[in-house]
Amino acid sequence: MIIMKSMEEIGKMRAAGKILAECHRQIAGIIQPGITTWEIDEFAEKFILSQGATPEQKGYHGYPYATCASVNDVICHGFPKKEPLKEGDIVTIDMVVNLNGWLADSAWSYGVGNISEQAQKLLDITKESMFKGIEQAVAGNRVGDVAHAIQTYAESNGFSVVRDFIGHGIGSEMHEKPDVPSYGPAGKGPRLKEGMVFTIEPMLNTGSYRTKTDADGWTARTIDGGLSAQYEHTLAITPEGTILLTQL
Ligand code: MF3
Ligand code: CO
Repeated sequence: MIIMKSMEEIGKMRAAGKILAECHRQIAGIIQPGITTWEIDEFAEKFILSQGATPEQKGYHGYPYATCASVNDVICHGFPKKEPLKEGDIVTIDMVVNLNGWLADSAWSYGVGNISEQAQKLLDITKESMFKGIEQAVAGNRVGDVAHAIQTYAESNGFSVVRDFIGHGIGSEMHEKPDVPSYGPAGKGPRLKEGMVFTIEPMLNTGSYRTKTDADGWTARTIDGGLSAQYEHTLAITPEGTILLTQL
């Protein structure tokens, strides 16, 4: 069942999303060679708490941290670590902010210092693929139209789309219906209606789309060691159009 949201509820999620966007903006300013994802996680948790909000991922199904920090071949759900980031790394920081019981979810990938041309292209195409999906996220279209636009753009630029992790409805729970994959045929899946709030969160790989999970039970990596990037916004379909909730 898809839980529809009122404009008032969407307004509350927008407030959570603004905090999240500001947190990402500040993280972009501190990422450089030598910083650890542990420090980034501490920064994010303190920032979120300072805004009167809480980091929803911490404790979610036993996940131990405020952020997921996924470096290079890690696709998602990487643990923050005390190992310094190096020049040329790419890192995805993913977090969910809870403000007064309403959630917003956004992930962003960052380059550390100077990165390779291939890594930069992966970041650019992954971000753009998210926006290709967002363009299709309008009332009357179907979830498959979003999915297909992302996949077509990603694959025509030489990257693969991860299948094992997908976007999702969100509200007062992190994961609601509908499922929002970043791959699949256009014209299929639930029709988008006013009041629906969900994430679009493509993960693109340089090699195979297949994944494997570390012994920690969380860290998901590319099966072939290729690089992986992700961008994620939470958005709402409203009578006034589609609103990105997780931007400044
Ligand atoms: N933000 C992630 C998502 O897009 C959730 C991460 S799983 C968690 O669904 F356990 F870390 F919360
Ligand atoms: Co999400």
